[in-house]
Amino acid sequence: MTLAHAPLAAAVLAALALAAPAAAQDVSAGERAFGQCATCHVVQDDAGTVLAGRNAKQGPNLYAVRGRQAGTVEGFRYGRSIVQAGENGLMWDEETFVAYVQNPNEFLRDYLGDNRARGNMAFRVRTEEEARNLWAYITSLAPAPAAPEDPAEAPADAPKTDG
Ligand code: HEC
Repeated sequence: MTLAHAPLAAAVLAALALAAPAAAQDVSAGERAFGQCATCHVVQDDAGTVLAGRNAKQGPNLYAVRGRQAGTVEGFRYGRSIVQAGENGLMWDEETFVAYVQNPNEFLRDYLGDNRARGNMAFRVRTEEEARNLWAYITSLAPAPAAPEDPAEAPADAPKTDG
């Protein structure tokens, strides 16, 4: 009789869930961790819908942060160092984000090669794992930016044959 198997199936599923290796990036853990960011940041899309956080404006909106030049949310008053870093080419990808959120001042000092550089974000994420989870969560809220170059359209790099 099949009903007798139901508890077993549930137990097997539970065991599988427990056995699953900790994902390198865990969106739901990132969502929980975002509570720490929400005192200062919101994630709000272009239509004005708040996707995460409440309405904090002490930090810039983190919507569509992937691929964005640092220090460029319109209307937000950044510190000089992060704006300078953005002008020097700092873009948010997983690696820059993960390093930055664990120590914004040190990151900006390294990036600018200037020991006096400092940022206005007075917060540090404690572990790299948490930083990666946050990245997974925040980027899950916005579509991936268009690739700068579509490899399908890029010229084939096969050597030219002259006839
Ligand atoms: C105490 C307030 C505060 C908290 C908490 C905080 N931030 Fe920030 N954050 C800021 C401020 C202010 C800036 C602007 C930094 C500057 O101007 O130097 C910023 C900037 C950033 C930037 C750069 C954005 C851009 O537009 O270039 C990222 C990414 C970021 N924060 C992520 C996070 C994440 C993720 C968390 C949670 C783990 C977090 N912050 C927690 C205040 C905060």
